[in-house]
Amino acid sequence: MNRLTDKVAVVTGGAMGIGLATAQLFADEGATVVVADLTKPDLDALGPTVEYAELDVTDEAAWAGLVADVTSEYGRLDVLVNNAGVIDYAGIAEVTPEDWARVIGVDQTGVFLGIRAALGPMRAQRAGSIINLSSAWGVVGSEGVAAYQAAKGAVRGLTRNAAITYATDGVRVNTVIPGWVTTPLTDRQPPEKNAEVIALTPLGYGAAPRDIAWGCVYLASDESRYVTGSELVIDGGLLAR
Ligand SMILES: NC(=O)c1ccc[n+]([C@@H]2O[C@H](COP(=O)([O-])OP(=O)(O)OC[C@H]3O[C@@H](n4cnc5c(N)ncnc54)[C@H](O)[C@@H]3O)[C@@H](O)[C@H]2O)c1
Repeated sequence: MNRLTDKVAVVTGGAMGIGLATAQLFADEGATVVVADLTKPDLDALGPTVEYAELDVTDEAAWAGLVADVTSEYGRLDVLVNNAGVIDYAGIAEVTPEDWARVIGVDQTGVFLGIRAALGPMRAQRAGSIINLSSAWGVVGSEGVAAYQAAKGAVRGLTRNAAITYATDGVRVNTVIPGWVTTPLTDRQPPEKNAEVIALTPLGYGAAPRDIAWGCVYLASDESRYVTGSELVIDGGLLAR
């Protein structure tokens, strides 16, 4: 109940799915949480220590405004979860330049902009934890999903780069790699695609959003103070094949 006491966290894409579960668990563990999303979550269900800020993660000026608001209200920013994400299923031959740019914009550039914005207060306070959501599809190939795979692979590289560059500033940066998770994203996915990934998952079923969120709690907390530049795989064994 108190693993994140006194911490101030921003969770992007926290209105639903993995981000929502992360915001809920962070609040349960004592954090003050700002859900930064295009969509507003049900704040009554999340409780008094969770607030909403409208944010498009592709908008650098909006990031600057968000971080300025959070630090002026709470005096610090301890944790950033770069979770907002979108997907497109087209392969390289079929993906439109617009869809390519949209997915890279949110899933890759959005993470870059988030890290960049959070570094200001985190370096100044000489402490902070940044958690970036990649995917099993950022590790192994799958047919189609070209832009998503490119972006999710890039997130892993960005994490390592930031972890090494800012380690001496006290800022830790890690990647979480989920397998298949029941969320609005996978609800919208073709059922045969879902069945295919679950069939490849050794545990034989998909994750609940909380299964991923508990990993974020660990990486956000001081329990992981010696963990940076790492990848936490939470995938029911998918990538062990
Ligand atoms: N669900 C899975 O099986 C799975 C597997 C691996 C990785 N992931 C990754 O986990 C993260 C969360 O996935 P999810 O399944 O919960 O997704 P979701 O679609 O259920 O929720 C995504 C959230 O991101 C928000 N969002 C989208 N674009 C945004 C933008 N430009 N600015 C701000 N917010 C924006 C949406 O409003 C939504 O609240 C994503 O990065 C996703 O790629 C999910």
